Amino acid sequence: MTPLETHAKVSRVRTFVDGLDEKMEGGIPRGNVVLLAGEPGSLKSTVAFHMAYQNAVKENRRALYVTMEQSRESLLQNMEGVGMRPEAVADKLSIVDIGHIRRSLNVLGTKSWLEILKSFAQNVKESQGYDILVIDSLPVLETLSTFDNPRNELFHFFEWMRGLEVTSLLITETHPGEGYGEYGEDYLADGIIHLMMSKVNEETIQRRVRVVKMRSSNHSSNLFSLLLEKGSLRIARVITT
Ligand SMILES: Nc1ncnc2c1ncn2[C@@H]1O[C@H](COP(=O)(O)OP(=O)(O)O)[C@@H](O)[C@H]1O
Ligand SMILES: [Mg+2]
Repeated sequence: MTPLETHAKVSRVRTFVDGLDEKMEGGIPRGNVVLLAGEPGSLKSTVAFHMAYQNAVKENRRALYVTMEQSRESLLQNMEGVGMRPEAVADKLSIVDIGHIRRSLNVLGTKSWLEILKSFAQNVKESQGYDILVIDSLPVLETLSTFDNPRNELFHFFEWMRGLEVTSLLITETHPGEGYGEYGEDYLADGIIHLMMSKVNEETIQRRVRVVKMRSSNHSSNLFSLLLEKGSLRIARVITT
């Protein structure tokens, strides 16, 4: 069997960014842990939320979105503001912020935030089940969890996510000229989708997307324009003139 034939058998979860799934054999291989990386304002939260939302609407899939950078209310307001209607799939799309997790577990004490998040995500998996897990964001989780040995603890965290048997999106911040995390997150992840803000001329910045890495996928590594219109995301060829 050729590698391509093997890939064809991989079950995939669509990002629902119109045009992007076709650039990676139909979507993210189910069960993969994918970094969604980019600068502030590059639509990381929007892309992740849109994927969870569209999978609920179109595929009847459940998702758990953990928001740590902004409150649940602020995230919902943003997503409604760009044209999504999350209340229509409220039974399938669970959105929780740190305050909610803190209240629902009541276990702060000596447990690190990483442990708290794991217990919470495990509990929700057992009680409701979900196919997509979004963590927004990994740098905030790393800041909240005081690690003794970050490389080791992140390695085990990625392994734990794979063990959940859900498709995970980990949002992470990038800075121009730097990699995708200081503790080897780029090696640990099965995939990396990079969102960029590209300066086209003195006054124009365009949003771009690139699939940097996607295990088990024959994917394009090209840059595409990323467009958000009426609650939908799509890619287009980069036009710079
Ligand atoms: N086409 C658009 N129409 C309306 N708002 C937009 C549009 N494109 C981007 N935005 C706004 O840009 C902001 C950044 O998006 P977000 O996904 O929060 O970025 P990140 O998580 O990467 O910081 C959001 O507040 C969103 O409402
Ligand atoms: Mg964000």
